[in-house]
Amino acid sequence: MIIKSKKMKIGIIGTGAIGGTIAKKMVAAGHQVKVSNSDQGDKLNVRALTLGASPATIENVVKDVDVIILSVPTVAIPALPKDLFANVPENVIVVDTSNYYPFRDADIEEIKNGKVESVWVSEQLGRPLIKAFNNLLAETLENGGRESGANDRIAMAIAGDDANAKKTIAGLVNDAGFDAVDSGELSESWRHQPGTPAYCTELNAGELIQALSDGIKEEAPAIRDKAIAGLSSLQSYPAHPDVVKFNRALFEKNPKSV
Ligand SMILES: NC(=O)c1ccc[n+]([C@@H]2O[C@H](COP(=O)([O-])OP(=O)(O)OC[C@H]3O[C@@H](n4cnc5c(N)ncnc54)[C@H](OP(=O)(O)O)[C@@H]3O)[C@@H](O)[C@H]2O)c1
Repeated sequence: MIIKSKKMKIGIIGTGAIGGTIAKKMVAAGHQVKVSNSDQGDKLNVRALTLGASPATIENVVKDVDVIILSVPTVAIPALPKDLFANVPENVIVVDTSNYYPFRDADIEEIKNGKVESVWVSEQLGRPLIKAFNNLLAETLENGGRESGANDRIAMAIAGDDANAKKTIAGLVNDAGFDAVDSGELSESWRHQPGTPAYCTELNAGELIQALSDGIKEEAPAIRDKAIAGLSSLQSYPAHPDVVKFNRALFEKNPKSV
């Protein structure tokens, strides 16, 4: 799924490792980007300047845009203003990049009981969502992008219920330097949650399609927790290529060698 994007107005909530990198890439691709984070003062202004984006309050970042990208930890989602999307037109696409980690995000019983993470986020916001930018590490997003058509281009999964919205977001994924693979409806987005072979394993489009079909929903939380425990037990955090190797090795069938 390679779609050229038209120039768009994008609001990004969260300017950390993922939101900040998306902002930089979208600015570089010629989109008009505004950003917001948990600070509404000088820290935000400086961060926005670094990213080449405009700073915006949380209320303004969702106004007069084509796409809103939500890139905050899952635990922060219920803390967003309750009426944040009340006046956002239905045709504005909302993208969720989040991944649920119990050690960071505290207990969210519904997710722990099997609710698909972005379905839970969508219910919290009262908005349909596209899940994207969640299955690559920040380092991959920052440095792993390639020109369209490159042999070693890495793929990213996109889930959601609106085919046209997915096409638009596929264009932004392409702008960021990655192939987009449609992973199905939002309810299928567990296929690229933590603990699945599609998660942070740097696959090309063909490999990602296979990995999405190989994931086992019931096994994913235990694999996610095993991965965190394994990485935490190391004396020092491994270099990026070793983290990717580690992630692939969590699965009997290495997702890179389909
Ligand atoms: N890091 C990765 O490799 C990776 C990969 C794929 C997906 N993800 C997922 O993407 C999401 C963002 O990850 P990240 O690594 O970018 O996190 P991060 O570096 O910790 O950045 C989080 C951002 O969210 C902002 N934020 C937190 N609470 C907020 C609130 N109530 N209102 C507005 N902004 C708020 C923070 O604001 P301040 O800057 O003011 O603190 C910060 O800019 C997470 O769900 C994560 O699991 C991460």
